[in-house]
Amino acid sequence: YKRITVKSLVDMKNTGEKISMLTAYDYTMAKIVDGAGIDVILVGDSASNVMAGHETTLPITLDQMIYHASSVVRAIDRALVVVDLPFGSYQSDPKEALRSAIRIMKESGGHAVKLEGGKEIKESIKRILNAGIPVMGHLGLTPQSIYKFGTYTVRAKEEEEAEQLIANAKMLEKIGCFAIVLEKIPAKLASQVAKALTIPVIGIGAGSGVDGQVLVLHDMIGMTHEFNPRFLRRYMNLYEEMTTAISQYAADVKAVSFPNENEQY
Ligand code: KIV
Ligand code: NA
Repeated sequence: YKRITVKSLVDMKNTGEKISMLTAYDYTMAKIVDGAGIDVILVGDSASNVMAGHETTLPITLDQMIYHASSVVRAIDRALVVVDLPFGSYQSDPKEALRSAIRIMKESGGHAVKLEGGKEIKESIKRILNAGIPVMGHLGLTPQSIYKFGTYTVRAKEEEEAEQLIANAKMLEKIGCFAIVLEKIPAKLASQVAKALTIPVIGIGAGSGVDGQVLVLHDMIGMTHEFNPRFLRRYMNLYEEMTTAISQYAADVKAVSFPNENEQY
């Protein structure tokens, strides 16, 4: 695939090729992620935690999401860029949801939007889809509802919530979403949903029986170190490496060993 589109992702599901997805919130990181061949870049509202240091995803604004997304879009040659609609930008009514989605598409150049939830936001999703904007769904542990859940623990372990999740996933496919993210649910349930749907299901903490995986970039490169859920595989320990490099720089400055003869004019 020279350039990933929503259609490429469905083709991947049909041929059994797994979809790789990571977050990015800025130009420099997005350039690396795109260059490394990741299929989908998510400008997640996890920027609220990772970039701004908030405890939850709730505070980030639509303007801030557009700033992050436009920075990412400028770096991309191949990946599909999906942008989260932040908390408070789509829950009031379908018109507000469409207005917010249009602002993201026009002002950032992103290729699709993601919204958290099922039947509660059905009409909003339909309205956005009617405007020609591709929508990715997000079910399971939906962090914008953290105060309703009260905990970041695994969702849909009980039969009732699992059945609701399956019904919501089918509904999202039926109204025209191009893919769905399933966050932190039992692997068996996630695999069941992936089999029942023709659109790709991308998991985070949802096991390997789905059509693709997503992680938060800063977590998988080990730049963050206090967040340690079971589903997180760290591919680097950048927190440690950066701390070593930065302390060395500080020591070199103090010792006047930086800059040396060759590092000045
Ligand atoms: O905001 C985010 O990073 C996300 C992913 C974890 C799916 O929504
Ligand atoms: Na998100």
